[in-house]
Amino acid sequence: MRAAKAVRPTATATSGTAGAKLVVEGVSLSFGGLRVLDKVSLSASTGEIVGVIGPNGAGKTTLFNVICGFVRADSGRVIWRGEELQRHRPHDLARLGVERTLQGVGLFPSLNALDNVLVGTTPIGRRGLASELFGLWPSSHYERRLRSRAMEALSVLRVAEYAERFPSSMPYPVQKRVALARALVSDPDLVLMDEPASGLSSSDISELGELFKGLRGTIGILLVEHNIDLVMATCSRIFVLDFGKVIASGTPAEVRADPAVRAAYLGGAGAEQARAGAGVDGAGDAGVGEGGAERARG
Ligand SMILES: Nc1ncnc2c1ncn2[C@@H]1O[C@H](COP(=O)(O)OP(=O)(O)OP(=O)(O)O)[C@@H](O)[C@H]1O
Ligand SMILES: [Mg+2]
Repeated sequence: MRAAKAVRPTATATSGTAGAKLVVEGVSLSFGGLRVLDKVSLSASTGEIVGVIGPNGAGKTTLFNVICGFVRADSGRVIWRGEELQRHRPHDLARLGVERTLQGVGLFPSLNALDNVLVGTTPIGRRGLASELFGLWPSSHYERRLRSRAMEALSVLRVAEYAERFPSSMPYPVQKRVALARALVSDPDLVLMDEPASGLSSSDISELGELFKGLRGTIGILLVEHNIDLVMATCSRIFVLDFGKVIASGTPAEVRADPAVRAAYLGGAGAEQARAGAGVDGAGDAGVGEGGAERARG
């Protein structure tokens, strides 16, 4: 895979804010009687990759939904570049330089790969000023620029040959790459990625890791992922959610060594053992060691 910086061919009006920071402060949310997020606080800045891990149902996707404005928190705040986001919708975030990939794929089935990526290039705020003021359609020159940028993003993700194909005729890993291209094409400051490695082969995951390492230092990534090897290899900081609470945070080494994390992943009798300190060095059995992520699921 080429250097990831190449995914950022041109600066946009919304990019280039060095050190832009997302802060989640004390966010709580209940669905019915179920407390899904419980005073969750975390942060992620442009330039760093921050992991959010935790067993199934821990609240990771719900946290992304709150950040993006799909769901309103009962309490707490989401702050981006020093300003609280209130009553925002997901498309507002795109204009502010924040993109998201969905758990699964989330491509539009009726659009080919190129058009799916083009969707990521066209928040209204990125049209020319004249188009904005006078309600003009984007010029053909402008459209050509967007198309070439979208093609470049597909090339960087090594799926340019699928540009004219529809999602239903692409292998799953290709669909995932197209979805990533769509998130990266707009030159975002921060991307929220929900399980980008799910369903990928180990060689695809290695390439993804290389892409992330190339992006490190340029954009920020908040990475929800069950593939712990990928998280450990790419994240500088990790937050661990369990039953909606942040139960641990720190560097990969700190999180890996945390008995509470092992307890969360093991559950049941294993949790008792881990709480008692047993197996903390036996990474492979705990779900937070080498390649143990999938065992943590389900
Ligand atoms: N719209 C909803 N209504 C009711 N409960 C919900 C809703 N969305 C999520 N939940 C519940 O909230 C909890 C957290 O779900 P969430 O999808 O955020 O978990 P997750 O950490 O992303 O899990 P996974 O790793 O399986 O994707 C679960 O118990 C889930 O059933
Ligand atoms: Mg999820």
